[in-house]
Amino acid sequence: MNYLVTGGAGFIGSNLVNRLVTEGNHVTIIDDLSMGKKCNIRETDKVKFFEGSVMDKNLLSSIIKAETFDYIFHLAAVASVADSIERPLETHKVNYDSVLYLLNLCKKYQPGLKRFIFSSSSAVYGDIDLPFKSESTPVKPLSQYAVDKYAGERTVLNFYNLYGVPTSAVRFFNVYGPNQNPSSPYSGVVSILTDKFQKLRDGEKTYFTLFGDGKQTRDFIFVDDVLNALNSIAISSKSLGEVYNVGTGTVTSLNQIIKILSGIYSIELPIVQKSVRKGDIRQSVASKEKLTSLGFDATYTVNEGLNKLVRSFHERK
Ligand code: NAD
Ligand code: UD1
Repeated sequence: MNYLVTGGAGFIGSNLVNRLVTEGNHVTIIDDLSMGKKCNIRETDKVKFFEGSVMDKNLLSSIIKAETFDYIFHLAAVASVADSIERPLETHKVNYDSVLYLLNLCKKYQPGLKRFIFSSSSAVYGDIDLPFKSESTPVKPLSQYAVDKYAGERTVLNFYNLYGVPTSAVRFFNVYGPNQNPSSPYSGVVSILTDKFQKLRDGEKTYFTLFGDGKQTRDFIFVDDVLNALNSIAISSKSLGEVYNVGTGTVTSLNQIIKILSGIYSIELPIVQKSVRKGDIRQSVASKEKLTSLGFDATYTVNEGLNKLVRSFHERK
């Protein structure tokens, strides 16, 4: 099969690409390397890499016209909620305009496409006070990131209903695993935490900035489970024109994550507490019924996933 993965050098993208090529598929990647790294991607002649932006209409058009894709995963984005609050205009261009360009090109030039999957986010639910967030729950996007993700998913689903482009959207909850870049202050919290623990273990002085009281909760899902979920959605005909939560249905607080990592590393990480970030969500956990109806269920507990992640750092050395 032939795949296009935008953002394929990033965290989720590179894990996806590496699995796809291992399974014998061919993958084209577009990534501007703003967060992703080429070294995340396994070296193989099955990968074609284009360093460029998904805002570059000429680049997108030349690739979509030249190739016949079976599946497209649109993952490139400004992936941080906090970053989108700093850079709303740029976020909008990357996170929304690119979706429209790509879909429009697929409508014209990819008649054989089996599925276009758009990576939306649980951030679309905002701070709605419900124990579980289900796909039929009203949304309340609180940041430019969340607004653009919601607009993106509606556009994606409309392209199926209006023009027959085969699409699905996924609302990732908090994904963690290997290849997540910890270097930005806006990086995913698990990558920041493991980076700090590694440094501390290697004798460096460091600390973690905790925004709020650490009682904020998230639905943390290990990246291997995310790849299985994406596959279940991509191959199902039931999921055409539909949006799916990709989460575990299990709630974990930031304090619990810190405690588990302290146990794994057998070190206490110094913590400096600051006020809650603007636009931050207090509680987030997925209702997983819709996704499990496709036969998927997450297999990693947070404990197992964090242990596997830490082992992966040692295996790489
Ligand atoms: P990431 O930052 O590691 O990956 C995004 C990739 O897109 C990076 O490689 C980056 O270099 C690339 N990129 C950014 N702007 C680009 C541009 N203008 N043109 C081309 N490439 C560009 O993030 P991730 O965690 O792998 O997220 C992948 C997708 O999943 C994103 O759309 C993100 O919004 C979404 N998502 C992620 C999570 C999570 O917990 N990681 C949760 C919900 C949604
Ligand atoms: C994350 C994703 C976002 C996704 C959303 C879905 C990243 C960078 N962001 O956002 O793409 O749409 O999940 O739920 O992957 N925190 C600290 N200290 C830090 C960093 C973070 O206390 O140094 C706190 C944050 O304030 C927040 C929690 O940890 O309360 C999680 O933060 P983060 O990993 O950035 O995730 P989300 O904001 O949930």
